Amino acid sequence: MPPLTLADKLRDRFDGETRALIFSAAKLADERKVRIALVGGAVRDLLLDQPLGDADLMLEHPAKPLVTELAAMLGAELISHERFFTFSLVLSNAKKIDIVTAREEVYPGPAKLPMVTPSSIEQDMKRRDFTINAMACWLNRDSLGKILDPFDGRSDMKRKTLRALYEKSFFDDPTRLFRAARFAGRLGFGVEPATEDGIVDSIKAGAPRLLSPVRLRHEFELILKERNAAPILAILKRWKALELIHPGWKAVDPASYQPAPQSALPERLTAWFRPFGEAAARKMMTDLAFEKHVKVEVLSKLVQYRR
Ligand code: CTP
Repeated sequence: MPPLTLADKLRDRFDGETRALIFSAAKLADERKVRIALVGGAVRDLLLDQPLGDADLMLEHPAKPLVTELAAMLGAELISHERFFTFSLVLSNAKKIDIVTAREEVYPGPAKLPMVTPSSIEQDMKRRDFTINAMACWLNRDSLGKILDPFDGRSDMKRKTLRALYEKSFFDDPTRLFRAARFAGRLGFGVEPATEDGIVDSIKAGAPRLLSPVRLRHEFELILKERNAAPILAILKRWKALELIHPGWKAVDPASYQPAPQSALPERLTAWFRPFGEAAARKMMTDLAFEKHVKVEVLSKLVQYRR
């Protein structure tokens, strides 16, 4: 059998409700002569045949009238984050699909949130983190399944290489170094040398220290939520980046973190904090601005281990 095209995968790999939303959005976009594409992680995961996360759809400005019509058509709740030109549709099964407007970003300073202005889908690809994440799959009828791949992410996929789009990427957004470890560890990819240099330089310059505790904690939670966090933690240890999340993690041996397979986040956090003991774990979770209910749950599990 010939390999599946991306248009085939669009039809085959999404659940029914997501597929219906994608194709309804594409039909409306055709009627209104607006360009529409699937972007980011879903394109990467379709091409690599990886498990699919959320589908991010991208429209060109102005997206709001089309998104409003789409929400009414599907009976979905519409949440608008207009300051960021972003919309979320909450489907009847509580699944959330993000629809974003193509934009350009300017970073006012290292680790600061970017200033955003509407732009084209081509231009939007340039503000992204890695070549394998900077691809779009067109959804308009005349170009369905065609790929926009301005940085040749497909070659990097073949070479199993994670490559940042530009040198200062990790200064603009130091969370990207945690993302680099996450994608390299998850996909078994190597980090391209200039990209790794950029990461090490941003660490040496202290850029990640400008990130707020909430952003650091969020990146850490994303790592622990991965099916297999071990290779990711090992990469961060090699970069001396675990201690950027919390200075108390300098001497941590990630190999001692062994959560039960398929456990939920609180169990995983408990496995991570167990070697530190309750008092230190409480302080670290406060330092990292963990939500109160998570903190309470993890601490109560740690108490059980004491008994
Ligand atoms: N992105 C970026 N820089 C960031 C965060 C996100 O460039 N700091 C871009 C990437 O193009 C990424 C897309 O936004 O693919 C969506 O981000 P996100 O949903 O966080 O990640 P995914 O790539 O979908 O990965 P995951 O499978 O972990 O959800």
